[in-house]
Amino acid sequence: MIHDPSVNYYDNPQLKFTGEVPSGKVVWRSPSNIALVKYWGKKPVQLPQNPSISFTLSKSFTETSVEYGKADNEGPEVTFIFGNKPDKIFQQKTGSFFKSLFGIFPFVSQMKFKIRSQNTFPHSAGIASSASGMAALALAVCSIEKEHFGTLSSDEAFYRKASYIARLGSGSAARSTYGGVVIWGKTDAMKGTSDLYGYPVDKWVHHDFLTYRDTILLVDAGQKKVSSRTGHGLMKHNPFARPRFKQAGQHIMQLLQAMNSGDMDTFINITESEALSLHAMMMTSNPYYILMKPNTLNIIERIFDFRKTKNIPVCFTLDAGPNVHLLYPDEHRRQVKYFINNDLQPFLGANGYIDDKVGLGPKKLA
Ligand code: PMV
Repeated sequence: MIHDPSVNYYDNPQLKFTGEVPSGKVVWRSPSNIALVKYWGKKPVQLPQNPSISFTLSKSFTETSVEYGKADNEGPEVTFIFGNKPDKIFQQKTGSFFKSLFGIFPFVSQMKFKIRSQNTFPHSAGIASSASGMAALALAVCSIEKEHFGTLSSDEAFYRKASYIARLGSGSAARSTYGGVVIWGKTDAMKGTSDLYGYPVDKWVHHDFLTYRDTILLVDAGQKKVSSRTGHGLMKHNPFARPRFKQAGQHIMQLLQAMNSGDMDTFINITESEALSLHAMMMTSNPYYILMKPNTLNIIERIFDFRKTKNIPVCFTLDAGPNVHLLYPDEHRRQVKYFINNDLQPFLGANGYIDDKVGLGPKKLA
């Protein structure tokens, strides 16, 4: 087999049970993340066309429990319960994902898994549920390896491998295996970054950003019409793809500098420009599509106004959906809450908003 680091980097035929196949249970809680510089466009296998940087969230998370044991027949045997209901689609997706990991985790082929997973936020609403879900699953499989093979003993090795595995499931998930501020994708702006896994950069950012708030304004919490997978694919023929990848590379350098020095104006400028560039890519794809809703724009206009009149450094970003992430320093949370409740409430859907903030990253619960 050809060695391709994007998929074979961690191949290890030794990770197979020679004696009895153990049973047990592992539970991980993993948060979602919101990108400031966006990953949009990929190359094989699941590598980003440009580096991205994100805040890991706190309240918006997936909790996944994995009960495992010896497969009765040919493994991996997977059952998947999402919320309280068996979910055939997740079951089938997880089964194929596990099969794709046979080179990295040969033991998976000997096992059966009963997975129960739930999110604290609406599924497929442009809040990265695939990021938190894939990160939790990757962390769980790495925990099984660590417990039964005695490998991955340092935190650095453990989380790096989990990030690599999460990336294979969903690109942005590579950033959810760490807390705080995380880069995924190689950039000259930061030593240690890689296209293969996420890299936490808390040490380099001003402490104000580690307590930043993200209030997710739910304009529409329905399922989005065009999946991220399709969106990434459409970048292949987007006439603006090359300049966009270049812009993202420059943005990450400027943003890192601003986050290091605490330069709010530049932070706001780059973050909002990134959100609009992401949606511009959707609008200039073929077929073109629009994920923003009229109330997305109504809210954005109110944010511009509020920032100008009150001189408070709030800004917005968008994920691949209509919901607006309102970002601001913790010290302004009272005034911003007042602004949301008084001026933005009329533009929100039935689910209101999620008052989230930058968080510490995933947690092993069992
Ligand atoms: O990880 P994916 O394939 O779901 O893509 C995520 C893309 C964005 O959320 C729009 C941007 C990002 O970097 O998270």
